Amino acid sequence: MTHTLFSPLDMHLHLRDEKMLETVAPLTAFSFAGALVMPNLVPPITTIEALLAYKSRILEATKDDTFEPLMTLFFRSDYTREFLEKASLHVTALKLYPSGITTNSEGGVASMDIEVLRPVFEVMSDLGLVLCVHGETNGFVMDREKEFASIYESFASAFPRLKIVMEHITTKESVALLDKYDNLYATITLHHLLITLDDVAGGMLKPHLFCKPIAKREEDKEALLHVSLNAHPKVMFGSDSAPHPISKKECCGCAAGVFTAPVALPALAQLFDKHHVLANLQAFVSDNAQKIYNYAPLKKEVILEKNPFLVPQSYSDVVPMFAGESLTWSIKDVL
Ligand code: NCD
Ligand code: ZN
Repeated sequence: MTHTLFSPLDMHLHLRDEKMLETVAPLTAFSFAGALVMPNLVPPITTIEALLAYKSRILEATKDDTFEPLMTLFFRSDYTREFLEKASLHVTALKLYPSGITTNSEGGVASMDIEVLRPVFEVMSDLGLVLCVHGETNGFVMDREKEFASIYESFASAFPRLKIVMEHITTKESVALLDKYDNLYATITLHHLLITLDDVAGGMLKPHLFCKPIAKREEDKEALLHVSLNAHPKVMFGSDSAPHPISKKECCGCAAGVFTAPVALPALAQLFDKHHVLANLQAFVSDNAQKIYNYAPLKKEVILEKNPFLVPQSYSDVVPMFAGESLTWSIKDVL
């Protein structure tokens, strides 16, 4: 049994830089036609020069003319209209991080005060630049996303022309917002469709499943599954594949991030097949994103097959999700 996907897109991806970029970028480029690349390098991507230089390093690392990196700028509230007009030629979205909320986000936004953000949000609305948001407060870890809901609501109602993507949503409250505001969209990761906090910390601690936002409750997972498996038109696949070297994961003070790039499509095929909705996978991994971002991807056909894929223990010094386990679907061919 096979299933073909056309131009799969990963709308939230961390590619890092230097040696790590060389390890991970080809793995995504192999099976995806495009990916929205996150800007949380050290230092973060805040200038056009840094963005273009990073894009060429990505293209150099992927060496694949059927893969397009879609670039993001690290959101700052002091960007000028003139700067954003120039940047908009090269940029797909701006990524807003509350300061210090996750890996390399120290330079993020300190206050979610709408009046502070207004000038940039207005220019973004005029230019059609998408706002991607890491929506967590600095409250209790299980409540951070839920507490951010009122901030999403304030953004969405004050800036109705701004397309806002709630990144890597993990709660039923975020899912509910999708149908409340026309201009709110969401990415959903593979791991948040499969795990809850129990899988991370319910038994022996699993550092390779530790990420931000932390996986939540069964009822949250069910809500995410409901909209993903039914290919709700406002949700897109965004892996949030976030590689860290083993030394930063298997240590005291584990970095947040799950590395899923090489297993994403086989694992999604397995999940959608298990629920008898393989036909909806195309919308979840590509068509919805094309419409939301008004984007026509490069052509790529990924032929998946119901044939076991034994996931490697590691790729260089990064451990993927499902390391050493067997998935029921694999990639047969890419055209
Ligand atoms: C991401 C990373 O490592 O860059 N980590 C994570 O746990 N998801 C940052 C992020 O998206 O929060
Ligand atoms: Zn991320």
